Amino acid sequence: MIPQSFIQDLLARVDIVSVVEPYVALKKAGANYFACCPFHSEKSASFSVSPTKQFYHCFGCGAHGTAISFLMEYQGLGYVDAIKELASRVGMTVPDDRGAGGAASAEPVVSPLLSVLSKAAQFYREQLKNNSRAIDYLKKRGLTGEIAVRFGIGYAPDGWQSLHSVFPDYTAQPTLIDAGLVIKHDEGRLYDRFRDRIMFPILNGRGQIIAFGGRILESGEPKYLNSPESPVFEKGRELYGLFQARQAIRRAGCVIVVEGYMDVVALAQYGIEHAVATLGTATTAAHIQTLFRHTDRVVFCFDGDAPGQKAAWRAMSGSLESLADNKQIAFLLLPTEHDPDSFVRSQGTAAFTAQVENAQPLAEFLISGLKLEASLASADGRARFAHESRTYIERVAAPLLRLQLLKAVSEVAGFTQTELEIAWKLKPALPLPRPEPAQKFAPLPRKRPSTVIGALLRLVAHHPVLATRIPITLLPTDTPEARALAALVDAIDIGELSGQIGLATVMEYFRGSPHQPVLAEQVRQSLDEEFEGHVTEQVFQDALNRLRWSHVDQEFQTMHRKASQQGLSAEEQSRYRDLIQQRAELSRRTPVSDS
Ligand code: GTP
Ligand code: MN
Repeated sequence: MIPQSFIQDLLARVDIVSVVEPYVALKKAGANYFACCPFHSEKSASFSVSPTKQFYHCFGCGAHGTAISFLMEYQGLGYVDAIKELASRVGMTVPDDRGAGGAASAEPVVSPLLSVLSKAAQFYREQLKNNSRAIDYLKKRGLTGEIAVRFGIGYAPDGWQSLHSVFPDYTAQPTLIDAGLVIKHDEGRLYDRFRDRIMFPILNGRGQIIAFGGRILESGEPKYLNSPESPVFEKGRELYGLFQARQAIRRAGCVIVVEGYMDVVALAQYGIEHAVATLGTATTAAHIQTLFRHTDRVVFCFDGDAPGQKAAWRAMSGSLESLADNKQIAFLLLPTEHDPDSFVRSQGTAAFTAQVENAQPLAEFLISGLKLEASLASADGRARFAHESRTYIERVAAPLLRLQLLKAVSEVAGFTQTELEIAWKLKPALPLPRPEPAQKFAPLPRKRPSTVIGALLRLVAHHPVLATRIPITLLPTDTPEARALAALVDAIDIGELSGQIGLATVMEYFRGSPHQPVLAEQVRQSLDEEFEGHVTEQVFQDALNRLRWSHVDQEFQTMHRKASQQGLSAEEQSRYRDLIQQRAELSRRTPVSDS
């Protein structure tokens, strides 16, 4: 392992501006530098580099990171190699990392695949420019050049070894086979997997190309050829278009899941940029969990034909375990003759958006689907309907949704809710009474502290010096955010991290730690405003007051309960009055109720 202290020293010496500059033409504007983003194609400069934060951030595609991440993402270097590269630039020597087993030795397997895939994608993009047949095909499908660029669409020429021209060591390059670009014939002859196909690169969450989908130009079999799974590509996890859609998903507060590559591309061209597609597979629980990390509302949009209906039902069934009461899933089945591509092209953006808004909520979709199958006229049929529903309802862990489904089923089947619960011996939905850690005080309503903690976590990540002003004893430990914040404040308190560092050092300090995803999510949410320079001090004061308030309020609630149940001693009474006063004062300083 490379010691933390070395990484902190390194980041203190390296300047991210000079790391990025050789690759991207930066222009200074205010405190930051701007350029066209190297991670997505654009005409205006949304890519910003902050010398104070030592962090880059693209307002367009959301790409972000430290000097180390920049080299990893831009040059496809592994973590250790990126550090070595930076160290050599500032004349530092990376301490011997023998015995580091994990990261250092695992990487060579992965990163050559990525670099080969990215090189191939570039080749395919260039080939598209020169091939009028492929261009005509895309034009015939109604695609603009701009949208082809956005999705990095290319063309694999019609030849057995076209990739030979970009990989001179084609025949001695097992990586090409591992990456799924080249197939080895029985007699050892090698040939390109993708020939005479329109190429859709598939990106992972970091914007790296991990696979391709290739469409045949006219008719023929198979219509789509996809890369096989590889160390960097797991079909059941990835979603086509998610990387490009991230920003739009956040803006729209929803993601649309469609079936085809062409659907994603067509919708984006018509301004509906928050659509993604599965990769020719059914929707998995992993997909849904990924999507719920980006947004609280997922709308599945399927073709109106019989296979589409079947796929919708399968997606519904596969999502039951991942549901939460604050998440929504809805289903949209297009008219039989349409897929999203043909619908948006013939009916327009507004008509499609209206369809999405009217999508059927999961509970309704589930119940009406079950009703269709049942013969509700007879008591027998109604009992069977209830029985059929049970297998679905039991898999729903979200308490309110489960209740809602039970209600709906009982209405249709003609039983009371309690009758069903007893007949089915339903256990209460799982997460209802959460086991609380042994605590002196009664637990608070959850929502308020978690948003305050989120705000503090974002602020301290960006401005670590603030950590010294947070009384660590006030911090709860009952959410991942709270634990991440406590870890960060703690690291600064005990001097493992200096308060003088910036965002980059914080993020590198937590790389690989269980707190990292929590922290990364908060940072991701706050990059836009932080890069625009928002008023930190006031937001911080506000959050701190809210934290104090909730602390005081906890004690107050306990006292209050005791007062009404068994009365208070004289000493407690004086403390109680004290708390009432503190509480009132803190709420005056901060409008606590609107958090
Ligand atoms: P167009 O016919 O070009 O409009 O394609 P589409 O994107 O609308 O695809 P379609 O609705 O026919 O299929 C949906 C998705 O299923 C595609 O995007 C592919 O991921 C996958 N798919 C379709 N055909 C095949 C095939 O022949 N083989 C494989 N492996 N996947 C396919
Ligand atoms: Mn289609």
